[in-house]
Amino acid sequence: MQLPEKGQSPDEVLAEMQRAAEKDADWRSGKTWSLVYNAGEDVIAVSRRAYDAFFSSNALNPMAFPSLRRFETEILDLASGLLHGGREAAGNLTTGGTESILMALKTARDWGRVHRPGASPAEVVIPVSAHPAFDKAAHYLGLKLIYVPVGPDYRVDLDAVKDALSERTVLVVGSAPSFPQGVIDDIPALAKLAEERGILCHVDACVGGYFLPFLERLGEPVAPWDFRVPGVTSISADLHKYGYTARGCSTIVYRDRALRRHQFHVQTDWPGGLYGSPTMTGSRPGGPIAAAWAVLHYLGEEGYLRLARTTMEATRALIGGVRAAGLRVLGKPAMSVFAFTADDLEIYALCDAMDASGWKIDRQQLPPSAHLMVSPGHAPFVVPFLSELGDAAHRLRGGAATPSGSAAMYGALAQMGDRSMVSEFLLGFMDSLDQK
Ligand SMILES: Cc1ncc(COP(=O)(O)O)c(C=O)c1O
Repeated sequence: MQLPEKGQSPDEVLAEMQRAAEKDADWRSGKTWSLVYNAGEDVIAVSRRAYDAFFSSNALNPMAFPSLRRFETEILDLASGLLHGGREAAGNLTTGGTESILMALKTARDWGRVHRPGASPAEVVIPVSAHPAFDKAAHYLGLKLIYVPVGPDYRVDLDAVKDALSERTVLVVGSAPSFPQGVIDDIPALAKLAEERGILCHVDACVGGYFLPFLERLGEPVAPWDFRVPGVTSISADLHKYGYTARGCSTIVYRDRALRRHQFHVQTDWPGGLYGSPTMTGSRPGGPIAAAWAVLHYLGEEGYLRLARTTMEATRALIGGVRAAGLRVLGKPAMSVFAFTADDLEIYALCDAMDASGWKIDRQQLPPSAHLMVSPGHAPFVVPFLSELGDAAHRLRGGAATPSGSAAMYGALAQMGDRSMVSEFLLGFMDSLDQK
C-alpha cells in the first residue's frame, strides 16, 4: 500500500473504514464476551466527548498540561480509596493491565536489587492461572517466574507456593480474580507468606479492581484481596475493564511511595534535557486519562453500584442457564467472569456451534472450557444466548455433526505434548497477520 497521491475527503476515508469494520465483533448485540466492556451508549458518549476534548494533550510533561496532572492525581486518589490504600498509598496511570503488571514486576526487580542483592536472577512465585502479562514482563525484565499449580478449586495451591519460595524470591503473585475461572486466590495466605519472608506481594485485580469494591458494598460476600490485607504491597486494577472507561487506562498502586520509587526512571545527562518518566511509555495520550476522569464522575458510586447489580444479575442467570443445559461451571466464580465445560460432549464443538449462530465464545485450555466475561451490556441478551446454547448442546448430544470450526485445531493443540510446536504455531500465526 502506498499513500494516495492526493488526499481524500473525510467522508470518503471514513466510509472506507466503516466498510472495513463490517465484520468486526458485534459487541453491541452482546455477541462477544471479552475485549469490550459495554456499560451503555450514555457511558460511551461521555467517554468519547472527554477523549475528544483532550485528544491532542500529552501527559508526558505534567507542567504543560496541569489539567491531565489533576485528573491523574484525582483518579489515583480515588483508586487508592477504593483499594483501601490509606494515606501512604501511591500509584500511576498506565495504558492497560499489561503495563501495570510490567511496572509491578519492574518495581519488584529493582526493590530486590536493593533489598535482596544476592537474588540473581530474582524469582517471582506465581500461579499458572495468572495472566500472561506476568510471563511477558518477566521475559522483558530478566526475572525468573516459578509457576505453581492451582488446586481443584482453581485457586493457587498454597503448599506449592511454600515449596517454591526460595532465598531468591522477591515477589509472590495472586489474582483477584483470575481470568481463566474468575476465582480469587487466597490473598491473605499469600500475603502472609510474603510478609513472613519480608518480600513483596502483588495482587492482580485488573479484572476485579473496579468491580469487587462495589460488589462488597452491595452486601455480597467478597474474599479479602485489597490493601486491607496485611502484606499486600501492590495492586494492578484496570479502568478500561470494569471501570468502563476508554481503552488505554489502568492503575498500578503501591502501599507506599518508597516502594513506588523503584518504578520510576530518570536520565539526568541527556542533551535534550532532564528526563523523568514514571511508567513504561514516554508520550502519554491525554484522551484515556480525560475519559477515565469523566466516566468516574459521570457514573459516580450510584452508577457503579447499579452496573455491578445488573452485571451480577446477568451472570447469575447465565450460570443458572449453563447448568440447566447440563454443562459444568469450573470452580466458584467470585464475580462476573466464569468458565464452563461439558462432561458428555466436546466443549470446543459446542463453541463452534455457537460461532455458527453468531455467538463468539472464547476457548480455554488446561482444562478445555468455554469462557464468559459478562458486562452490563449483556443483560438484554442472556435469554437468547441461553436458548441457543441449550439448543446447540441438545443437537450435539443427539449426534448432530459438528459445524466445521476450530474444535479440531484446539483439540490438537491442547494435546500436543511438545509445547515448542505450539509456540511455533503461535509465532507463525503472528507472522502471518500482515500477509494478504
Ligand atoms: C486478570 C488479568 N490481568 C491482566 C490482564 C491484562 O490486561 P490488558 O489486556 O489490559 O493488558 C487481563 C486481561 O484480560 C486480565 O484478565
